[in-house]
Amino acid sequence: MDIRENLEQIAAQLQDELKDLSELKALEELRVKILGKKGSLTALLRGMGSLSAEERPRMGQLINEKREKLTAMLDEKQQALQQKAKEARLKAEALDVTEPRPLPEIGGVHPINRVLNEVVDCFTGLGYEVVEGPEVELDLFNFELLNLPKNHPARDAQDTFYINENTVLRTHTSPVQARTMTTRKPPIRIICPGRVFRADEVDATHSPVFHQIEGLVIDENVSMGDLKGALDAFAKRLYGDDIQVRFRPSFFPFTEPSAEVDLTCVNCHGKGCRVCKDTGWIEVLGCGMVNPRVLEMCGIDPQKYSGFAFGIGLERITMLRYGISDMRLMYEGDLRFLKQFR
Ligand code: DAH
Repeated sequence: MDIRENLEQIAAQLQDELKDLSELKALEELRVKILGKKGSLTALLRGMGSLSAEERPRMGQLINEKREKLTAMLDEKQQALQQKAKEARLKAEALDVTEPRPLPEIGGVHPINRVLNEVVDCFTGLGYEVVEGPEVELDLFNFELLNLPKNHPARDAQDTFYINENTVLRTHTSPVQARTMTTRKPPIRIICPGRVFRADEVDATHSPVFHQIEGLVIDENVSMGDLKGALDAFAKRLYGDDIQVRFRPSFFPFTEPSAEVDLTCVNCHGKGCRVCKDTGWIEVLGCGMVNPRVLEMCGIDPQKYSGFAFGIGLERITMLRYGISDMRLMYEGDLRFLKQFR
């Protein structure tokens, strides 16, 4: 076959194969098959040795022209394929920067803190100030100045976590009263929320770590009527206007007289149910008029000043507020529980 025909055949074959070629790799293989060291066009160039001296330059020119043309065809196809690949990639990687992202999950305030916030809001509205004290407390403030002398049963190691002979984990928030009375002059109007510790078992209503809110008011002419008024406002604020407050005589070494305070059962509204053990009432706090001995020990003149104090169990009033039947739910961090308080 003569070289011219051969060239045309190679060109025709290339055109044909290029038509439905879609992969860059296949294109490279095709390029090698024709223009590579062992390619069909290269073979033609090699074969020129057998031509006559006058034919050689003509044929050489012809083959070179053809080679340029074929190279151009291959390059053009290569560019088209590269462009197509790029478009496909851009399409796959496309990112809509204007698309709104999913909203992050928003947490909620823990039920204990919710109720604490309400209590704080209620009492600051009545002119009280929030004061905090240390959790590791001196025996002096936790017991001694509150008229709980050395042999008092409340000091029993079964209830109290001792750090050393003179230092305990506070068993109530009452030491903040003693601290405040020894460092400030009346009038005093404070609430003291905080964590307290007792060597208790863990069950539905007990925990070795729990919370109290202490209240203390000292001024001239403070009466038990003022105490009832303050606690009535607190009870109505948390549980509604139809709640009733009942005082029962009781005993605390740091108050005289002392009382325990019941609310009409928030579950059955006084009819009697499981929550109030069929009594219609639920105990929520202890209170009383600050014992003159305590005032005196803390450096306040009991002839001039009187006052009242109360101690609220925060877990207790939180459970009543939300109908939570087991205290442990409030410490376990189970999201199924917590998510109900968003
Ligand atoms: N400190 C008492 C307790 O832990 C609670 C208490 C009762 C506090 C009467 C008071 C109070 O301030 O007047 O059980």
